[in-house]
Amino acid sequence: MSTIAWIGLGHMGLPMTKNLLRAGHAVRGFDLSEPAMHASAEAGVTTCASAAEALDGAEVVFTMLPKGEHSLAAYGGDEGIFATAAPGTLLIDSSTIDVASCQQLHDRAKEAGFEFVDAPVSGGIAGAEKGTLAFMVGGEAAAVERARPFIEPMAGNVIATGAPTTGQAAKICNNLMLFINMVSTSEAAVLADRLGLDHSVFYSIAKVSSGDSWPLRTWYPYPGVVETSPANDDFAPTFTADLALKDINLALAAGEDTDTELTLGTIVKDMLKQVSDAGSGGKDCSIVKKLVDGSFDA
Ligand SMILES: NC(=O)c1ccc[n+]([C@@H]2O[C@H](COP(=O)([O-])OP(=O)(O)OC[C@H]3O[C@@H](n4cnc5c(N)ncnc54)[C@H](O)[C@@H]3O)[C@@H](O)[C@H]2O)c1
Repeated sequence: MSTIAWIGLGHMGLPMTKNLLRAGHAVRGFDLSEPAMHASAEAGVTTCASAAEALDGAEVVFTMLPKGEHSLAAYGGDEGIFATAAPGTLLIDSSTIDVASCQQLHDRAKEAGFEFVDAPVSGGIAGAEKGTLAFMVGGEAAAVERARPFIEPMAGNVIATGAPTTGQAAKICNNLMLFINMVSTSEAAVLADRLGLDHSVFYSIAKVSSGDSWPLRTWYPYPGVVETSPANDDFAPTFTADLALKDINLALAAGEDTDTELTLGTIVKDMLKQVSDAGSGGKDCSIVKKLVDGSFDA
């Protein structure tokens, strides 16, 4: 069993560390937020006063932070991970970040002599709690294989994606499809309603037909059709509109960098931005259905 450092004990980080603890590892954690530190200590994490302290004696460090700028800040600087980790420490960034920041982290890790992998996840808070996340792991093959046993207690699937940054690429492209499919499901659901179809009847047809998708089965945007739908609870968040906006903006930035026209992605981004600008970014992203049916009221 190993000592693992964990930086970023938020909605995802804390439940992920609980699965490492259950697997018998010792976890030394650090977060800038006092409530996150408190909850982590209660869960059995050894909380530390800084990232450098958390790294003391750790064989591997995971970072689970909001955005690229946070990962760059945590790894860089005099007190950052590159400066304070012991030689040979394996570095794993599981945050969802932009490809350019991710490439910088790979480059700087290599300069500093560390093995580094980008390992973003899919599966949300429920997957983090159950230990069933899908990890998309990009980096040098040896580093990816070294990371695998540390990742496994938190994962349903661990998929090696190839070269550095391809983990982030996979995550960004997957979520581009997810949010486009969410809007397509909303449009079809609203139209089906207005054409007189019973919600459950249309759902049961689409589910076994060519209109099937993950958002259809998970987020059908009328209440009483799908048990897991946020529509059952006034769009209480399972995946916030703000986080969806962040992810789709990562796809659009990558589209610009690679000269790729993302027409539908741009439209979906505008819808999520409208929700966020109106102060409803903390609601579930499937609230875009209300933009489709005209009932959105900020
Ligand atoms: N929430 C989800 O459903 C979900 C699903 C898949 C992927 N993700 C991705 O996982 C990452 C984390 O998401 P989350 O929902 O846990 O976010 P969160 O905001 O709940 O947690 C992030 C934590 O990082 C801490 N932090 C920021 N900078 C820090 C620093 N320099 N040092 C130490 N701590 C620092 C914050 O205080 C916060 O507690 C994001 O990149 C997100 O896109 C989230």
